[in-house]
Amino acid sequence: MDLFEQHVFAGIFGRRSIRNYVEGREVEPEKIMKLLQAAMAAPSACNIQPWDFIVVTDPDLVRQVKESIERFGNYNAPMLIAVCSYPDLIPWQGDTGMADCCAAIENMLLAATAMGLGSVWIGSFKRDRIRQILNIPEHVVPVGLAYFGYPAESRPPRTRYLEEAVHWQRYDPERPHPPRPGHIL
Ligand SMILES: Cc1cc2nc3c(=O)[nH]c(=O)nc-3n(C[C@H](O)[C@H](O)[C@H](O)COP(=O)(O)O)c2cc1C
Repeated sequence: MDLFEQHVFAGIFGRRSIRNYVEGREVEPEKIMKLLQAAMAAPSACNIQPWDFIVVTDPDLVRQVKESIERFGNYNAPMLIAVCSYPDLIPWQGDTGMADCCAAIENMLLAATAMGLGSVWIGSFKRDRIRQILNIPEHVVPVGLAYFGYPAESRPPRTRYLEEAVHWQRYDPERPHPPRPGHIL
Protein backbone atom coordinates (compact mmCIF):
# COMPACT_ATOMS: atom_id res chain seq x y z
CA MET A 1 0.00 0.00 0.00
CA ASP A 2 1.36 3.43 -0.80
CA LEU A 3 1.30 6.19 1.79
CA PHE A 4 -1.86 7.87 0.51
CA GLU A 5 -3.77 4.59 0.57
CA GLN A 6 -2.51 3.85 4.08
CA HIS A 7 -3.62 7.25 5.32
CA VAL A 8 -7.04 7.10 3.71
CA PHE A 9 -7.75 3.67 5.20
CA ALA A 10 -6.37 4.75 8.58
CA GLY A 11 -8.94 7.55 8.50
CA ILE A 12 -11.84 5.39 7.37
CA PHE A 13 -11.16 2.57 9.84
CA GLY A 14 -10.05 4.95 12.60
CA ARG A 15 -13.19 7.08 12.57
CA ARG A 16 -15.24 5.92 15.51
CA SER A 17 -18.16 7.54 17.28
CA ILE A 18 -16.82 9.47 20.26
CA ARG A 19 -19.16 10.22 23.14
CA ASN A 20 -16.71 11.58 25.73
CA TYR A 21 -14.87 14.82 25.08
CA VAL A 22 -12.15 16.81 26.84
CA GLU A 23 -13.94 19.36 29.03
CA GLY A 24 -13.16 23.00 28.29
CA ARG A 25 -11.26 22.39 25.07
CA GLU A 26 -12.87 24.18 22.15
CA VAL A 27 -12.45 23.30 18.48
CA GLU A 28 -10.28 25.96 16.81
CA PRO A 29 -11.97 28.12 14.13
CA GLU A 30 -9.46 26.92 11.49
CA LYS A 31 -10.49 23.34 12.16
CA ILE A 32 -14.18 24.24 11.95
CA MET A 33 -13.44 25.83 8.57
CA LYS A 34 -11.74 22.64 7.40
CA LEU A 35 -14.71 20.57 8.53
CA LEU A 36 -16.96 22.77 6.39
CA GLN A 37 -14.62 22.60 3.42
CA ALA A 38 -14.60 18.80 3.73
CA ALA A 39 -18.40 18.77 3.91
CA MET A 40 -18.73 20.84 0.77
CA ALA A 41 -16.36 18.55 -1.13
CA ALA A 42 -18.88 15.71 -0.84
CA PRO A 43 -20.54 14.23 -3.91
CA SER A 44 -23.89 15.80 -4.70
CA ALA A 45 -26.55 14.72 -7.20
CA CYS A 46 -26.16 16.89 -10.32
CA ASN A 47 -23.81 18.98 -8.17
CA ILE A 48 -26.77 20.93 -6.79
CA GLN A 49 -25.30 21.00 -3.26
CA PRO A 50 -28.69 21.50 -1.60
CA TRP A 51 -27.19 21.83 1.87
CA ASP A 52 -26.89 24.35 4.66
CA PHE A 53 -24.65 24.03 7.70
CA ILE A 54 -25.49 25.57 11.06
CA VAL A 55 -22.33 25.80 13.14
CA VAL A 56 -23.29 25.91 16.80
CA THR A 57 -20.55 26.94 19.23
CA ASP A 58 -22.56 29.11 21.62
CA PRO A 59 -22.55 27.09 24.86
CA ASP A 60 -26.14 27.93 25.69
CA LEU A 61 -27.42 26.83 22.28
CA VAL A 62 -25.26 23.70 22.35
CA ARG A 63 -26.75 22.89 25.76
CA GLN A 64 -30.31 23.46 24.51
CA VAL A 65 -29.77 21.14 21.55
CA LYS A 66 -28.30 18.40 23.72
CA GLU A 67 -31.01 18.68 26.34
CA SER A 68 -33.67 18.40 23.65
CA ILE A 69 -32.29 14.98 22.76
CA GLU A 70 -33.43 12.86 25.64
CA ARG A 71 -31.35 9.81 24.86
CA PHE A 72 -28.22 9.20 22.86
CA GLY A 73 -27.39 12.84 22.33
CA ASN A 74 -26.52 14.40 25.67
CA TYR A 75 -22.74 14.10 25.33
CA ASN A 76 -20.21 16.73 26.44
CA ALA A 77 -19.04 17.83 22.97
CA PRO A 78 -18.28 21.58 22.91
CA MET A 79 -19.81 22.22 19.49
CA LEU A 80 -21.98 20.76 16.77
CA ILE A 81 -22.91 21.27 13.16
CA ALA A 82 -26.49 20.77 12.03
CA VAL A 83 -26.70 19.75 8.38
CA CYS A 84 -29.89 20.74 6.61
CA SER A 85 -31.25 19.97 3.20
CA TYR A 86 -32.79 22.72 1.09
CA PRO A 87 -35.24 20.78 -1.12
CA ASP A 88 -36.43 23.85 -3.07
CA LEU A 89 -33.10 23.77 -4.90
CA ILE A 90 -33.78 20.27 -6.26
CA PRO A 91 -35.72 20.27 -9.55
CA TRP A 92 -37.10 16.72 -9.23
CA GLN A 93 -39.06 14.58 -6.78
CA GLY A 94 -37.02 12.33 -4.57
CA ASP A 95 -34.77 12.59 -1.63
CA THR A 96 -31.35 13.18 -3.11
CA GLY A 97 -30.91 16.15 -0.76
CA MET A 98 -30.90 13.72 2.14
CA ALA A 99 -28.23 11.60 0.45
CA ASP A 100 -26.08 14.64 -0.34
CA CYS A 101 -26.29 15.84 3.26
CA CYS A 102 -25.34 12.38 4.56
CA ALA A 103 -22.28 12.32 2.29
CA ALA A 104 -21.33 15.77 3.63
CA ILE A 105 -21.69 14.57 7.23
CA GLU A 106 -19.46 11.56 6.62
CA ASN A 107 -16.83 13.80 5.01
CA MET A 108 -16.84 15.96 8.16
CA LEU A 109 -16.43 12.93 10.42
CA LEU A 110 -13.46 11.74 8.36
CA ALA A 111 -11.92 15.22 8.33
CA ALA A 112 -12.37 15.40 12.10
CA THR A 113 -10.52 12.09 12.50
CA ALA A 114 -7.67 13.39 10.34
CA MET A 115 -7.38 16.52 12.52
CA GLY A 116 -7.33 14.63 15.84
CA LEU A 117 -10.92 15.54 16.70
CA GLY A 118 -13.59 13.16 17.91
CA SER A 119 -17.05 13.20 16.41
CA VAL A 120 -20.38 11.48 16.50
CA TRP A 121 -23.31 11.59 14.09
CA ILE A 122 -26.58 12.26 15.93
CA GLY A 123 -29.82 11.25 14.29
CA SER A 124 -31.99 10.86 17.37
CA PHE A 125 -33.16 14.45 17.55
CA LYS A 126 -36.68 15.78 17.46
CA ARG A 127 -37.00 17.71 14.24
CA ASP A 128 -39.46 20.25 15.61
CA ARG A 129 -37.35 21.03 18.68
CA ILE A 130 -34.22 21.47 16.57
CA ARG A 131 -36.13 23.77 14.23
CA GLN A 132 -37.26 25.88 17.17
CA ILE A 133 -33.87 26.07 18.88
CA LEU A 134 -31.87 26.79 15.73
CA ASN A 135 -34.47 28.91 13.93
CA ILE A 136 -34.76 26.53 10.96
CA PRO A 137 -37.68 27.43 8.67
CA GLU A 138 -40.27 24.92 7.42
CA HIS A 139 -38.81 24.64 3.91
CA VAL A 140 -35.40 23.62 5.27
CA VAL A 141 -35.02 20.05 6.54
CA PRO A 142 -32.62 19.19 9.36
CA VAL A 143 -31.01 15.92 8.24
CA GLY A 144 -28.40 15.23 10.88
CA LEU A 145 -26.26 16.67 13.62
CA ALA A 146 -22.57 16.06 14.07
CA TYR A 147 -20.87 16.70 17.41
CA PHE A 148 -17.18 17.59 17.50
CA GLY A 149 -14.52 18.07 20.15
CA TYR A 150 -11.26 16.66 21.40
CA PRO A 151 -11.73 13.01 22.34
CA ALA A 152 -11.46 11.88 25.95
CA GLU A 153 -11.85 8.25 24.97
CA SER A 154 -10.11 6.14 22.39
CA ARG A 155 -11.80 3.44 20.36
CA PRO A 156 -9.94 0.96 18.18
CA PRO A 157 -9.92 1.26 14.38
CA ARG A 158 -11.84 -1.41 12.55
CA THR A 159 -13.91 -2.45 9.59
CA ARG A 160 -17.08 -4.44 10.00
CA TYR A 161 -16.62 -6.44 6.83
CA LEU A 162 -19.38 -9.02 6.70
CA GLU A 163 -19.33 -11.57 3.93
CA GLU A 164 -23.10 -12.16 4.09
CA ALA A 165 -23.72 -8.52 3.21
CA VAL A 166 -21.98 -8.86 -0.15
CA HIS A 167 -23.73 -10.18 -3.26
CA TRP A 168 -21.74 -10.73 -6.42
CA GLN A 169 -23.27 -9.85 -9.79
CA ARG A 170 -26.94 -10.32 -8.76
CA TYR A 171 -28.86 -10.30 -5.49
CA ASP A 172 -29.16 -13.75 -3.92
CA PRO A 173 -32.59 -13.94 -2.24
CA GLU A 174 -31.90 -17.48 -0.92
CA ARG A 175 -29.18 -16.28 1.32
CA PRO A 176 -29.99 -16.40 5.06
CA HIS A 177 -30.25 -12.91 6.47
CA PRO A 178 -29.65 -13.13 10.21
CA PRO A 179 -29.86 -9.92 12.23
CA ARG A 180 -26.70 -7.85 11.98
CA PRO A 181 -24.69 -7.37 15.14
CA GLY A 182 -26.34 -4.11 16.15
CA HIS A 183 -26.56 -2.10 19.30
CA ILE A 184 -27.86 1.34 20.03
CA LEU A 185 -24.53 2.96 20.84
C1 LIG B 1 -27.83 8.10 10.62
C2 LIG B 1 -27.07 7.89 11.91
C3 LIG B 1 -27.65 8.29 13.09
C4 LIG B 1 -26.96 8.13 14.30
N1 LIG B 1 -27.53 8.61 15.45
C5 LIG B 1 -26.86 8.50 16.62
C6 LIG B 1 -27.40 9.08 17.79
O1 LIG B 1 -28.46 9.69 17.78
N2 LIG B 1 -26.70 8.97 18.95
C7 LIG B 1 -25.50 8.32 18.99
O2 LIG B 1 -24.90 8.27 20.07
N3 LIG B 1 -24.95 7.76 17.88
C8 LIG B 1 -25.59 7.84 16.70
N4 LIG B 1 -25.04 7.34 15.55
C9 LIG B 1 -23.73 6.66 15.60
C10 LIG B 1 -23.87 5.13 15.56
O3 LIG B 1 -24.38 4.66 16.79
C11 LIG B 1 -22.47 4.53 15.27
O4 LIG B 1 -22.04 4.98 14.01
C12 LIG B 1 -22.50 2.99 15.27
O5 LIG B 1 -22.75 2.50 16.57
C13 LIG B 1 -21.16 2.40 14.77
O6 LIG B 1 -20.08 2.84 15.58
P1 LIG B 1 -18.88 3.70 14.97
O7 LIG B 1 -19.44 5.02 14.50
O8 LIG B 1 -17.91 3.88 16.11
O9 LIG B 1 -18.29 2.95 13.83
C14 LIG B 1 -25.69 7.49 14.33
C15 LIG B 1 -25.12 7.08 13.12
C16 LIG B 1 -25.79 7.28 11.93
C17 LIG B 1 -25.14 6.87 10.63
